[in-house]
Amino acid sequence: MKDVELDTTKLPQHVAIIMDGNGTWAKKRGLPRNFGHRQGAQALRNIVLFSNEIGIKYLTVFAFSTENWSRPKEEVDYLMRLPMEFLRSNEKEIYKGNIKFLCIGERDCLPLDLQKTIMKYENETVNNQRMTFIVALNYGGKDDIIQAVNRLLQEGISKIDNQKFEEYLYTKNIPDVDLLIRTSGQQRISNFLLWKLSYSELYFTNVLWPEFNKKQYIKALCEYSERDRRYGGIK
Ligand code: FPP
Repeated sequence: MKDVELDTTKLPQHVAIIMDGNGTWAKKRGLPRNFGHRQGAQALRNIVLFSNEIGIKYLTVFAFSTENWSRPKEEVDYLMRLPMEFLRSNEKEIYKGNIKFLCIGERDCLPLDLQKTIMKYENETVNNQRMTFIVALNYGGKDDIIQAVNRLLQEGISKIDNQKFEEYLYTKNIPDVDLLIRTSGQQRISNFLLWKLSYSELYFTNVLWPEFNKKQYIKALCEYSERDRRYGGIK
């Protein structure tokens, strides 16, 4: 792949990633699927650090969807352990990098030790300001909207506007996604951040997530910088 020059004045403020292709990566090598997820966590580390370095303000990744519970128990257990290991082994970089950590999704049914780890890192990084790193765990775009509606009903609120509604989403205080990247060749949203994706630029690549590196990321960011965003208007 040819090297491309990144124009840091035209970066998206919020990048979201569907990290697809871990299983395929492992299968191609005759390895168990969990090896693919482990390698995926390594790729994620590099993308988080590079995003922070170049000045991306929000990075959201889809780590476990509300539909992923249907996977074999061994894989689900591993996907529940990985975020804890990730946070612990990258703790220094997160603190030093002034990165705020947030988790979105229905966390009550996550294992208790994972819930505690999430809370610890959310609390300890609450004042960090350079970049916000958001992990979607047991997250579904439809569930997010439904839980918001239910909370509005519980509070007896009968009339809302866009701004008010956003306050009830898991993604409260997080701006709309500018660029959505999905790896591994599938071209769909898969119930990710439905509300926040309304005007996002979409970027699909055949590269499997464990092989998605800085160079691939720069290519996506460069393509984004050349997109003509009109938000329903005309030029
Ligand atoms: C989809 O690929 C990937 C997932 C459901 C899990 C993503 C998790 C990671 C990248 C691990 C790191 C995350 C954190 C937060 C540390 P797939 O395995 O379904 O791919 P396939 O379509 O090739 O089977």
